[in-house]
This record gives sequence, structure tokens and C-alpha cells, in this order.
Amino acid sequence: MLDPSGLFARKLLLVTGKGGIGKTLVAAALGQQAAALGKRTLLVESAACDQLAPLFGSPDTDHEERTVAPNLDCINLLPPDNFRAYVTKYLGQRRLYDTVFSHKVVSSFINTIPGLAEVMLLGRLFYHAELDKAGVYDLVVFDAFASGHFLSLMTTPQAAINAGFGGPLASETTRVRDFLADQSKTGIVYVATPAALVVSETLDVLPQLQAKSPAKVAQVVLNRMPGQPHLDLINTSSGAYLQRRFIAATEAEKTLSAGLVELGLTYAALPDLGFIDEPLAPDFATAFFAL
Ligand SMILES: Nc1ncnc2c1ncn2[C@@H]1O[C@H](COP(=O)(O)OP(=O)(O)OP(=O)(O)O)[C@@H](O)[C@H]1O
Ligand SMILES: [Mg+2]
Repeated sequence: MLDPSGLFARKLLLVTGKGGIGKTLVAAALGQQAAALGKRTLLVESAACDQLAPLFGSPDTDHEERTVAPNLDCINLLPPDNFRAYVTKYLGQRRLYDTVFSHKVVSSFINTIPGLAEVMLLGRLFYHAELDKAGVYDLVVFDAFASGHFLSLMTTPQAAINAGFGGPLASETTRVRDFLADQSKTGIVYVATPAALVVSETLDVLPQLQAKSPAKVAQVVLNRMPGQPHLDLINTSSGAYLQRRFIAATEAEKTLSAGLVELGLTYAALPDLGFIDEPLAPDFATAFFAL
């Protein structure tokens, strides 16, 4: 069961965890639930293949926000489009873009500066969560990258600041870093599953995130917890299999729980639903979080 009310007091949630573990589903459910509670919510992803909008029965999104449900928009921020939008719209430097960055040689050079696209992605999240004058969104949920890539994403603002660039990019990046570091505004939702290897990786990655990322972990989610097999099944071979699976998951949960205590973190478990209806039913998140 997950009570997301503490999370929804923030402005930006960053959902990460190992690949294929349920990050997109958890991000979508958080967005759906926040929207149902009346928060104007933007669900963001940055992926070659759109995973979010189709969960709401909407065709793929691209660089423009698309409304997929009441109070709920999706956007897919791909680096080249985001770079242009960031420089022209958010840094207010249209002429700079037209005269310098749009030049082919320069733009390919830009792509080689490590971290620049990442800084601009984080800048865009900051803009929607905090700066947008029209106050369009109460909450931004980013279906972020898998943990390794996410950790390097989160170290880019400080690296850019340390690199000593001047001008609007440097001052913006400092503001972005400070916003990420403000735990009343930004929180990481870290998704794990009850498998021994995933738990061990989680307990390895979390301290690194807490040490290196300006944003801190607000919630660990243990997704896909299996239920105890029904008593009628216990003496059948499938019952024995399901029981072993349940015991292994419970062991992994204990290991996670003990490790998190040492890190001063807690977790919430979400059930393995077997199959997920697509598009998600309008009351999917309410049911999922209450189980
Ligand atoms: N609690 C759950 N119960 C049942 N199925 C689930 C659950 N959570 C996730 N799934 C299913 O597992 C698959 C992977 O989930 P999802 O796409 O959310 O993972 P991801 O971490 O975003 O993956 P990727 O790293 O590829 O982006 C999907 O088919 C999803 O429907
Ligand atoms: Mg995903």
C-alpha cells in the first residue's frame, strides 16, 4: 500500500530504479492519482519510444504537451527538440540559437559536450515545476532513466557549475541544482522488486544517490510483491512453486527493509497485479495504491 499524499506536497517527482521494473507504471499511477486529487499534473519522459501516453489510450506524444485525461498532460522531451526550446524559450536567447547553435557544425559540437543535454532536460523540468509564470502545473512527474543513467544525470548540474561556464546557462543551472536539492519541492521515487539481486543492487545504488545527487530519495517502492498462494493450491505443484516464490519475495523484502533502516529510509509495497489493463482504467491508481 502506498499513501502518496506526502509525495504530492512536492512539485517534482523523479521516478527511477532498475530497467523493466515498473518505473513507467508507477510514474503513470502517480500522475493519474495526483490528477484525480485535482492537481494539474505533467507526466514527462525522455525516450525514443513513448511509453506513457499510450497507457492513457493516447497516441504517442512528442515535444508538445498533450492532455491525456482531466488535469493530466504528457510530454516526451527528446534532447534535440529540448535543446532548441530551452535556449530560445527558457533562456530567452532566440537570436543566440539562430545565429550560433542552429549552425550545423556548432550543433554537432554541442552534442559532444558531456552533460549539456542533461542539464537542459533538468532545466526544463524545473521550468514546468517551478518557474512557469502561468502556473500551469501543480506537479511534474518524470518517468526517469534507469538508476545508473539517472545517477549520472543527477550529477550533471554540479559538474556544469564546476566547469565554470558563465552567462545565463550557469546561473540557471545553479537555480536548477538548488531546486533539486530542496526536499520540500523535489523527491526521488525509487522502484525495486522483491528479487534478491534487485534488492542488493538497490541497497548499493541508494547510498550513492543520497551522496551524489542533489535530489534525495523521498520514497522507495517495492513493486510486484506476490500474494500468498490460496490455501486450496498449497498441496499442488503450482501451489508449491507459488509458495517458494512468495517466501523468496518475503526474504528479499526483509533484506530491503533492514537495509533501508540503516539508510534512514522506509518503503511501501505494491502488489503484483498479474496483468495490467491498457489503457489504464480511470480508477487504476486508486486501486493499485490501496492494495
Ligand atoms: N505491479 C505490477 N503488476 C503487474 N505487472 C506490472 C507491475 N508493474 C509493472 N508491471 C509490468 O511490467 C512491465 C514493465 O513495467 P514498466 O514498463 O513500467 O517498467 P520500466 O521500469 O518502466 O521499464 P523500462 O526500464 O523498460 O522503461 C510492463 O509490462 C508492466 O505492465
Ligand atoms: Mg519505462
